[in-house]
Amino acid sequence: MHATAIAQPNIALVKYWGKRDMVKNLPAVGSISMTLLGLETKMSVQIDKMAENDRAYVNGSLSQKLLPRVSLALNRVIGSERDRVIVNSRSNFPIAAGLASSASAFAALTLAAASATKSDLTIQQIARLAGESSGSAARSLYGGFVELANEEKTIQVSQLASHQDWPLSVIVAVTEVGPKSVGSTEAMEISRKTSPFYDEWVNRQHADLSAARQAIHERDFSALAAVSEHSCLKMHSVMWASRPSLVYWNAATLRCMQTIRELQSRDVAVFFTIDAGPQLKAICDPKDAETVLTALRATDGVVEVLRSGLGCGARLIADD
Ligand code: PMV
Repeated sequence: MHATAIAQPNIALVKYWGKRDMVKNLPAVGSISMTLLGLETKMSVQIDKMAENDRAYVNGSLSQKLLPRVSLALNRVIGSERDRVIVNSRSNFPIAAGLASSASAFAALTLAAASATKSDLTIQQIARLAGESSGSAARSLYGGFVELANEEKTIQVSQLASHQDWPLSVIVAVTEVGPKSVGSTEAMEISRKTSPFYDEWVNRQHADLSAARQAIHERDFSALAAVSEHSCLKMHSVMWASRPSLVYWNAATLRCMQTIRELQSRDVAVFFTIDAGPQLKAICDPKDAETVLTALRATDGVVEVLRSGLGCGARLIADD
């Protein structure tokens, strides 16, 4: 019994920050994201009746660090009374690129585990289970523009527009490599407990979600740019005002923002977003992608630029 799935990471335009249920890993707010193109995690799951323990290989090496989260994710799909599982994960993008590698990893793992055990879970149920492992992973089950909506006891994930409907480009400016200073689960709890802006952040999310939904529906780039930059800067304001403060940016992150402002003043259709890390992601019209890439590459402190676009959702592939 084995299966292999591929999933891409996603970046949120209307951000998720904060949890309403730590046990089920339910987010405090809904979110809207773009699933990326070309950057992939390939995950193979092999049920091994003879093995004594689960094993997880990441890019060819045994990983003890990821194993507890992998085993829990497998329990969610298969149940805890199960045979042991050998998991092989390969990503074709740098984990340090701040591209939420956990999103693509847990989306692919959950889908592959469901297929290997021939479960009849729907994509929606798989998205919910993936979301229990990593909040943003639920969104990578779908391609293009994706909304994660909060319902009373669960989440509902759906596609707002496909990658063909509105094929925007994404340029990632990597300004620092290395693990983030504070992991997102811990950081979200710090914000929930201490940031004076947290409640307002939760209360105002509804308005940002409907503005982004409408902008995507109407393919209105400047409206999407406005709400996305606002959501990003508002999330970071919540983080900055937390105690201890959560400042994920470095000097080069700010210089990249300056580069985007300069491009915008020259009427280049581009906007930025930044997650819980120092990398800046620029979203632009494909005709401007080369201009944006060149400008970010020339920005002092940028160590690498990656070019992407909008991709499709997680899918099963034939085993190697
Ligand atoms: O899925 P997590 O737990 O790594 O949290 C993701 C949080 C942000 O990337 C900052 C925002 C988002 O909505 O993806």
